[in-house]
Amino acid sequence: MSDFTTKALHSGYDAADHNGAIIPPIHLTTTFESDSPGGYEYSRSGNPTREALEKALAVLESGDYGLAYSSGSAALANIAALLAQGEEILFSSDAYGGTYRYITKVLAPQGIGHKISDFTDLAATAKVLASAPVKIVWAETPTNPLLKVADIKALAELAHRHGAILVVDNTFATPVLQRPLELGADVVAHSTTKYVNGHSDSTGGALITSDAKLYERLKFLQNAIGAVLSPFDSWLTLRGLRTLELRMDRHVGNAQRLAEVFRDSGKFTQVYYPGLFTGEQGKIVRQQMKGPGAMISVELDEKYDVQRFLKALKLFPLAESLGGIDSLVDHPATMTHASVPAEERAKIGLTDGLFRISVGIENEADLVADVEQALDKLVTARV
Ligand SMILES: Cc1ncc(COP(=O)(O)O)c(C=O)c1O
Repeated sequence: MSDFTTKALHSGYDAADHNGAIIPPIHLTTTFESDSPGGYEYSRSGNPTREALEKALAVLESGDYGLAYSSGSAALANIAALLAQGEEILFSSDAYGGTYRYITKVLAPQGIGHKISDFTDLAATAKVLASAPVKIVWAETPTNPLLKVADIKALAELAHRHGAILVVDNTFATPVLQRPLELGADVVAHSTTKYVNGHSDSTGGALITSDAKLYERLKFLQNAIGAVLSPFDSWLTLRGLRTLELRMDRHVGNAQRLAEVFRDSGKFTQVYYPGLFTGEQGKIVRQQMKGPGAMISVELDEKYDVQRFLKALKLFPLAESLGGIDSLVDHPATMTHASVPAEERAKIGLTDGLFRISVGIENEADLVADVEQALDKLVTARV
């Protein structure tokens, strides 16, 4: 079974164990008879529907073990619970705002330090690693929202050389486009809320690894902390996985086209999209990704009125989140990244004029027409 969709349809669940049912059942039970055939006891510690998803995620990420959580943030909290006081976590300079918030506002008061680095600069990252007791490197690639790509193979080697594990947040790329464990990462993290479930109707998270010892500890923490994915959400996410490859094809095709429309309009000072990257960043995209993803961040020329543009868009509602079938637009400075202080945002180039677009699976021509009519309304300068 080499094809992604074939694997997605057949991993994690065997119909023969369930009266031949092609679709996995949802096991809403919280408890199980003692000596149940699957060895289940209580749904927080193990549930067959969640386990079906965990196994499928592991196969699709080329890992041996999967763990599903109640959100991507819960996945971060669980892995961060590996750290003891005095140890540190190093993370990407423009990570998701909630990741920044958890590390700086929850871990820091517990005596767990952190460092921030731009992982596109490996020499600077090596210096940080040499100067601090970093045990976990948490790398988003592409990053949220500036879409920077880190060389996973090189970063894994660097982290290992300094006694740290590399966790790659693969939310933006998905295992269809990028498989960090194959490149040397120790753990893959997901907000399954995004592309993996893909329908904006379930909040969830996951960790995947092939390290048996690490898995045992994470499995213990999953049960002890208790932020597990519910059976119903596990079922929804399993269903989402089955069409992930098909959806990603369409997401990526639409995004590539829209990124070109933004670039060619001449109305943006920046268009960040891995499919348009050249130089070293473009090389890394081609080396480690099967496609450039479907997130675009753009900065409108300041002579135009951002609000006017956003209001004119009909197919891109202003909303948090990403990775669902519907296109969305987000204003990071006031929404997803509002918890990152303004000085930090300025340092990394996350300006107030930046907005982030999650390109959905609508008809490409409809999306292009919508963007073009909104751009046409920008002929007049800011009033
Ligand atoms: C890249 C990335 N990682 C993690 C998260 C956190 O996931 P959740 O919202 O499921 O807690 C998000 C949320 O937007 C994200 O964009």
